[in-house]
Amino acid sequence: MKKNNKIFIETYGCQMNFSDSEIVASILTNDGYELIPNVLEADIIFINTCSIRENAEDRVRKRLYYFKSLKKKNPKLVIGLLGCMADRTRLALVEEEQLLDLVAGPDSYRHLPDLIRQISKEIPAIDTILSTDETYADISPVRIDSNGISAFISIMRGCENYCSYCVVPFTRGKERSRDAASIIEETKDLFEKGYREVTLLGQNVNSYRWTNEEGTINFAQLLELIAEVNSRIRIRFATSHPKDISDELLYTIARHDNLCKAIHLPVQSGSDHILGLMNRKYTRKQYMERIEAIRRILPNCAISTDIISGFCEETEADHQDTLSLMEWVGYDAAYMFKYSERPQTLAAETLKDNVPTGIKDQRLQEIIQLQQKLSLERNKLEIGKTVQVLIEGRSKRSEDHYFGRTIQNKVVVFSKTIAQPGDLIKVKILSVTSATMIGETVES
Ligand code: SAH
Ligand code: SF4
Ligand code: F3S
Repeated sequence: MKKNNKIFIETYGCQMNFSDSEIVASILTNDGYELIPNVLEADIIFINTCSIRENAEDRVRKRLYYFKSLKKKNPKLVIGLLGCMADRTRLALVEEEQLLDLVAGPDSYRHLPDLIRQISKEIPAIDTILSTDETYADISPVRIDSNGISAFISIMRGCENYCSYCVVPFTRGKERSRDAASIIEETKDLFEKGYREVTLLGQNVNSYRWTNEEGTINFAQLLELIAEVNSRIRIRFATSHPKDISDELLYTIARHDNLCKAIHLPVQSGSDHILGLMNRKYTRKQYMERIEAIRRILPNCAISTDIISGFCEETEADHQDTLSLMEWVGYDAAYMFKYSERPQTLAAETLKDNVPTGIKDQRLQEIIQLQQKLSLERNKLEIGKTVQVLIEGRSKRSEDHYFGRTIQNKVVVFSKTIAQPGDLIKVKILSVTSATMIGETVES
């Protein structure tokens, strides 16, 4: 065992980043470090960061000042920054503000043990080189804060879509797919350990492609292979890009009861003018055609989305197009954001961030309010139905209640029974809010 071996990892950003922290935890525990839950006892603090919007970066900066204050009491404390802010902010944070001892980008985690050893020579250790082939395929993640039921599996890294507002292609580099056999092995291993749900992760899972001597596997084929690992394990995935979601994929989902009937299909805007400026590569009409295909092939499928308010040049008419498309689809859920200009992106370099903040806020509020109404309407359709729920654990609000999710990814709360977390149970839906459904278990 090493002397300064207690590591604390704090994670921001998307599910992929949380999955990456589990890869980091695996690499470090294999090298003799111990992962601990309390920051005040740590010898090394890692913050795994997100650059997607300016406020995400501000939050990280604030935490770094706090961590720096801990260094006054413990001068040997090491502070390291991982993830999407690594390359973008290393100069400011290491040289100007001297907040960091270590910086590692998303493709450099295998080097962390060496980088930590370099710091002991009192040189800040930095590695932010992006790779074209790193997928961490052979690394078996150490699950952090796990409920023992659901787990993430990264199947791709990077993104080359270059949506004009988005920083991800710059922070995570080229798109690459992970060896299919290693994904199937990881799923089998999780099932044997008692996990009953996996979420396959990538920025655009529909463009998954793995080629070996036997041929090429696309995303629909991968999904089928994973569904067949065991019918008791539920499979979710995120994110689907609307330009790439194929009928083949929808038919595959229809064929398997354990492939979740929930599709996250970020639309970003309902206006063709804005979609063009965003470089999303689909029109409103093409998006609607994909929604119709989902409704036709998967009639019981929940659909969720991401929306950005106040992108460059967005007019009131463009905004109204977004609202009318939301109504037309009737989304079950949405993540909604105010546009935040990111350095390096096409929008930052070629367009004007010219919608005033007040208007961005007002439009965002209208979008949020409409979504609350739509979520409630969609959830109300479930009242009276008996649905299958995967129990995830005890409800946060009540000792006597469990919570779990339906195959459509809707949260259900119900009175505890003799069933255990990880079990599938039938629940009749009695009442709903826009966020949760309340039910009672029924004898099967
Ligand atoms: N790969 C996924 C999403 C990745 S980022 C996709 O293509 O849909 C998650 C969400 O953050 C995006 O869908 C978008 O809605 C939002 N987002 C990305 N960049 C943003 C920015 N500069 N300002 C505001 N929201 C942004
Ligand atoms: Fe960003 Fe677009 Fe890639 Fe999604 S698909 S990560 S929004 S560039
Ligand atoms: Fe953020 Fe990077 Fe994910 S920018 S959203 S942590 S890919």
